[in-house]
Amino acid sequence: MILIVGATGQLGRATALQLLAQGHAVRVLVRERARAVDLQKAGAEIFIGDLTDARSLELACKGAERVFACAHSMLGRGRYASAQVDHVGHSALLAAARDAKVEHFVYTSVMGARADHPIDFFRSKFEIEAAVRSSGMGYTILRPAAFMEQHVHRLNGQLLLERGFTVIIGAGTKPRNFVAVRDVAPFAVIALAQDDLNGRTLEIGGPDNLSNNEIAAMYAVRARKGRIQHVSVRATKIVASMLRPVHEGLARALDIACVPDHEMRESWDSHQLMGEFPRQLTSVDAFIDQRVAEWRRARRVASR
Ligand SMILES: NC(=O)c1ccc[n+]([C@@H]2O[C@H](COP(=O)([O-])OP(=O)(O)OC[C@H]3O[C@@H](n4cnc5c(N)ncnc54)[C@H](OP(=O)(O)O)[C@@H]3O)[C@@H](O)[C@H]2O)c1
Repeated sequence: MILIVGATGQLGRATALQLLAQGHAVRVLVRERARAVDLQKAGAEIFIGDLTDARSLELACKGAERVFACAHSMLGRGRYASAQVDHVGHSALLAAARDAKVEHFVYTSVMGARADHPIDFFRSKFEIEAAVRSSGMGYTILRPAAFMEQHVHRLNGQLLLERGFTVIIGAGTKPRNFVAVRDVAPFAVIALAQDDLNGRTLEIGGPDNLSNNEIAAMYAVRARKGRIQHVSVRATKIVASMLRPVHEGLARALDIACVPDHEMRESWDSHQLMGEFPRQLTSVDAFIDQRVAEWRRARRVASR
């Protein structure tokens, strides 16, 4: 039995569906059953639980041989503040898995996590990585780059397509690596279904390093429209400090955009990974082509 915590998210869902399609027994710990209807239909066992409820984690781990931790609450607040979910909750999941004699724990960290990262979320990821390595269980740590679905489309190109402009914080010139969720999920599947990645920490990125400005321009050329508006880091820091008392998650998202480029490098070279696991990775170009084609289709349908 493979337990997935975070199966209603982008990476968790893609991984769960691939495992189910291969015939694996999958249990998904979800907060709301309604968000897992497709997973249940595909054959997953639904377990209602929460990373902030340690007892639910103990029960969910019972009988599981492998655990995939792919939830996060970077944008959370209050009960779901990142520290509660990403640190306390994941520590509790790790303890529950160890107590339930889980054989292999696959943890989703993030590329660039380090002990002295300026953002607490990245420090949490680094600390949980260390706890996973010393847990005594078999383990694999995945360190994906920024997901294209989020960082290329939702936070940049989608606004440009739908509103005719996009907003970029700071100069927007830092080269960043982006990876498609569909290119990360197969590594999670290998880690969960085979023993090949035991003891490994894998950085997983895409083939391209591009700036936010370049991404916006790629959408604008295809859509034949689009303005790029820049907001200064100074103004963003003021907004973040006003937001922090009411919504620490949103403030954190703005804080990330304000980290100086040299303190949070995001470029990455895919050659080593591709040497070991040859495969075709989704290019940002192809990804944007697909998003723009979907946008055109939706416009045609809406105008009928
Ligand atoms: N997005 C990126 O660009 C990116 C880049 C690198 C690494 N990662 C890492 O990759 C993993 C997957 O990210 P993603 O973007 O696929 O996630 P996502 O789509 O944002 O989904 C987050 C998942 O976490 C679950 N979750 C949040 N709080 C929870 C709680 N208290 N108890 C149980 N489940 C909870 C959510 O459940 P609900 O459906 O109930 O909300 C959802 O299934 C995360 O570990 C993330 O840090 C992401």
